[in-house]
Amino acid sequence: MPIVEARGLTKVFRRPDKGSGLGGAVKHLFARRYSDKVAVDHVDLSIEAGEAVAYVGPNGAGKSTTVKLLSGILVPTSGEVRINGLHPQRDRNTVAYQIGVLFGQRTQLWWDLPVSESLAVLRDIYGVDHATYRKRLARFDEVLELGEILPVIGRKLSLGQRMRADLAAALVHGPQVVYLDEPTIGLDLAVKDRVREFFRSLRDEGTTVMLTSHDLADIEGFCRRLVIIDQGRIIFDGDLEGVKDTFARERILHVETARPLPLEAVRAALPGAEINIEETPLRYAVRFDRFVMTAGQVVTVLATLTELVDFRVDEPSIEDVIRRVYSGDLVLPR
Ligand SMILES: Nc1ncnc2c1ncn2[C@@H]1O[C@H](COP(=O)(O)OP(=O)(O)O)[C@@H](O)[C@H]1O
Ligand SMILES: [Mg+2]
Repeated sequence: MPIVEARGLTKVFRRPDKGSGLGGAVKHLFARRYSDKVAVDHVDLSIEAGEAVAYVGPNGAGKSTTVKLLSGILVPTSGEVRINGLHPQRDRNTVAYQIGVLFGQRTQLWWDLPVSESLAVLRDIYGVDHATYRKRLARFDEVLELGEILPVIGRKLSLGQRMRADLAAALVHGPQVVYLDEPTIGLDLAVKDRVREFFRSLRDEGTTVMLTSHDLADIEGFCRRLVIIDQGRIIFDGDLEGVKDTFARERILHVETARPLPLEAVRAALPGAEINIEETPLRYAVRFDRFVMTAGQVVTVLATLTELVDFRVDEPSIEDVIRRVYSGDLVLPR
């Protein structure tokens, strides 16, 4: 049984559609116009215990809403969520012990308390015994250097300190499932590295982690499974490497030739490919669609037209592909 399971998960936000000014407000009273925003649209997602999953998508795609639905903070408009087979609202108390959530954009620490006291409050809420609590704090200290920020009052924390303390707060009760929503947002590189290392240690201990991020560097080296959401719908769920095969049709073959390429003949032999001359003489870049022709075919055609000295095929990087998926530049091939 998967530890996290969502079926047909849908969240519609209803917003009043007011015209501007007083007139608009008065009209609204009578007309009661609303517009519905489908933030999460029939999402099916199944996560196995111990799995690490990256959940990415452009701004406003529905990532945070999904996290709120999966943690029971929001009730779905339709569809359902199960955590270990339990219902996040009906079994709220049991489920609360099993999940931990971090929202990078907001804190769950008490603003007027030192971090140590915020954590102690959470320890008491969750009934964590003191020995276990001390062990967990020691571990947080090891990777997050929590010790130095324990005495600091919530509102005096720098962003990096706040995130480290919030990570500890999300994990005080030793949840089996952790949702990290933009956990590195606004952090400087050194702190990013440290929290990334911490995510890896969580994963290595067998905690199920769903990581939402804008920063693709958070994802690389962290998980193999990538889920991409766009406009509330899941448009990719699979291997991180597979995203290139799914979306990126384009390949570039760089060739070096002994004599100039007869460009007209090449264009005639490779219809659809785009041949560019590179800065250095006798070097060319041939851009082609790998669903139309293979790199092998391109090389073979070129080799019959002139002598090849060297060649190399470039495929786009994962970052590049995902960025272009976000921008709508790459869509699923039919
Ligand atoms: N409480 C809300 N009321 C109305 N609309 C909302 C609310 N929360 C989110 N939305 C809208 O739902 C969409 C998805 O938001 P969100 O899940 O926060 O996206 P992401 O985290 O991927 O940036 C956005 O268009 C956002 O404006
Ligand atoms: Mg968000």
